[in-house]
Amino acid sequence: MEWRFASKHFDQNKQIPEAELKEILEATRLAPSSNGLQAWKFVVVTNAELRLKLLPVCFNQSQITEASALVFFCARTDLMGENGVINRWVQLTKKEQNRTDEEAAKYKVYLEEGITRRSESDSVNWVQKQVYIPAQVLILAAADKGIDSCPMEGFIPDEVAKVLELPEYIKPTVLVSLGFRNMEQPKKVRFAFEEIVEFRN
Ligand SMILES: Cc1cc2nc3c(=O)[nH]c(=O)nc-3n(C[C@H](O)[C@H](O)[C@H](O)COP(=O)(O)O)c2cc1C
Repeated sequence: MEWRFASKHFDQNKQIPEAELKEILEATRLAPSSNGLQAWKFVVVTNAELRLKLLPVCFNQSQITEASALVFFCARTDLMGENGVINRWVQLTKKEQNRTDEEAAKYKVYLEEGITRRSESDSVNWVQKQVYIPAQVLILAAADKGIDSCPMEGFIPDEVAKVLELPEYIKPTVLVSLGFRNMEQPKKVRFAFEEIVEFRN
């Protein structure tokens, strides 16, 4: 955690080996989510042309073209219906954990009720909050391998979705750029432990 920092510049001559990139993405896939739903999609961009198109909609941040890979953490809002995340998740759980039809049907109703009692914007907010967890897993899994990163919210989500040609139910929420640092790590600035951590023993 001391070694990791949000790098603004990456060495353009050093690429993350594909096998390592896949390994840290596999760790990311195992991140926890509310009810295990995984209402997310990780879009990994390495293509140079695509990055140039992304640059202006990411406020021209240097990481967009310098990083070895960009991982856009997107929230899925297609939760309901036959092909929705909930039904697919319930069917998969049933198969993998040998649940009965009755258990699966009950679970589906429970999960769908959780969505219908929220407003649409609350549901979108709920799935968007969750993608920050795999984003953090990616950052730590990368650091464990000596790979640098920068979490980034500095982009225009609707414009990024257009460039990446994403369907409207896939919402880019946070981006993690990955690569090898090409700058000195600045001194970490954090509030004191006693100010941040409060024990109630
Ligand atoms: C949600 C989130 C969004 C961020 N967005 C950006 C960004 O768009 N561009 C950038 O250069 N850094 C961005 N950062 C990096 C922070 O500025 C950085 O983590 C913070 O200043 C603490 O520094 P450190 O990570 O180097 O310890 C973001 C960090 C987080 C957690």
